[in-house]
Amino acid sequence: MKPCIGVLISGSGTNLAALIDAFSGDDAKAAIGVVISNRADAYGLQRAVAAGIPAVHISNAKKSRVDFDRELIATLQAHGVEWVALAGFMRILSPVFLEAFTGRVINIHPSLLPSFPGLDAQEQAFKAGVKITGATVHFVDAGLDTGRIIAQGAVPRFEADTIEALRARILAMEHELFPMVMAAAVSGRLSVEAGCVAIDGAAQALAWQPDKP
Ligand code: GRF
Repeated sequence: MKPCIGVLISGSGTNLAALIDAFSGDDAKAAIGVVISNRADAYGLQRAVAAGIPAVHISNAKKSRVDFDRELIATLQAHGVEWVALAGFMRILSPVFLEAFTGRVINIHPSLLPSFPGLDAQEQAFKAGVKITGATVHFVDAGLDTGRIIAQGAVPRFEADTIEALRARILAMEHELFPMVMAAAVSGRLSVEAGCVAIDGAAQALAWQPDKP
């Protein structure tokens, strides 16, 4: 049996689409067992259905954080999930959730953490006038984008950039980085060396390619 990934989303799900591409087919290192959204109208749910993956809406409205997280846990476990990928999931997870999947919850964030955590990271970076920004994949802890960094991808911010152009460049990097890290995670290729997460024993950073958006 392949390792089973559950993906949590709240929106469009372009990162979900990249994960579906990477984890479909017989040669894939893992399978996506379920996609869960806290928003009924998240387009990512439709992407999951189109790919033949169970798609579940679990509302967080009028529920305590822990009750919501318990529903998430039950649904993920019912689908045999071992690894959880947060792909644009706009909720902070409680310790109850993190204990259910200790060391197996991974998030993608659109900045080079620890710079620009939280909402609108791309706009924060744009407004700060940074020359290089990017995306970070990290383990999730109880804080806001504070978990241990696994890998990063850097992209330039060009002088003529609009915020939309910069967002698109970061997103293209996210789509490379996230499947790469999830494949390494489920295959047991992550380790911690001198306080840093390594993939296959080495620090991983992707560099922007000029032929990308
Ligand atoms: C991405 O920028 C991701 O880094 C952030 O939320 C966004 C989700 O985008 N956590 P999408 O739904 O995958 O297109």
